[in-house]
Amino acid sequence: MSKILIAPSILSADFGNLAAATQMINESHADYIHIDIMDGYFVPNISFGFPVTQAIYRHSKKPLDFHLMINNPDNYLDDCKNSGAKIITVHAEVCTHLNRTLNRIKELGVLAGVALNPHTSAEVLRNVVNDLDLVLIMSVNPGFGGQKFIENTYAKIKEIRQIALDANKEIIVEIDGGVNNENAPSLVEAGANMLVAGNYVFNSINPSQAILSLKNL
Ligand code: DX5
Ligand code: ZN
Repeated sequence: MSKILIAPSILSADFGNLAAATQMINESHADYIHIDIMDGYFVPNISFGFPVTQAIYRHSKKPLDFHLMINNPDNYLDDCKNSGAKIITVHAEVCTHLNRTLNRIKELGVLAGVALNPHTSAEVLRNVVNDLDLVLIMSVNPGFGGQKFIENTYAKIKEIRQIALDANKEIIVEIDGGVNNENAPSLVEAGANMLVAGNYVFNSINPSQAILSLKNL
């Protein structure tokens, strides 16, 4: 079994039956449940809020991976922690004091991640690489599941791996958007070690088998 971490995105699940979706993930080879929080400002969509994430947390046996696609993430870090977050990822584009936000996340005892939109340069990470545990590369424009994968992601993974190497810092490189069993091997080869998958998992005939096919890369 590989060391690649797999995080199915609950955004693509049947919201009418989140307990069943969580149970499926519990019984699968997934490592995390990916939780997408959207505010309708940073991204043109609204997903769900903390009453829903607390319900997922109550049913989940897997750690929760929070991806905050919101304008003021600092205001919601405690809510994430109270919903069982083991990873909290904020977008570099909205954090005026990114170093402070990352340290606040770590003070909560949670892994601290930085997400980059497809157009955001990897170079923004160079001055915070020692403050983060994880980089989430958006491989689609954030806001929706089921979009087409952006090919420039491979080059960005390599740039980020180089920045981490230059700083002698071990990080998780998570890829989010349009991941499937066809592009996953190349993503891992380029240096990714955590894959989010929404549509690929939940639109499969056999979602837990889809998770296993990513885990078995
Ligand atoms: C998109 C979200 C993703 C989304 C991925 O803004 O951040 O986590 O759920 O879904 P797929 O795998 O369908 O692109
Ligand atoms: Zn996400």
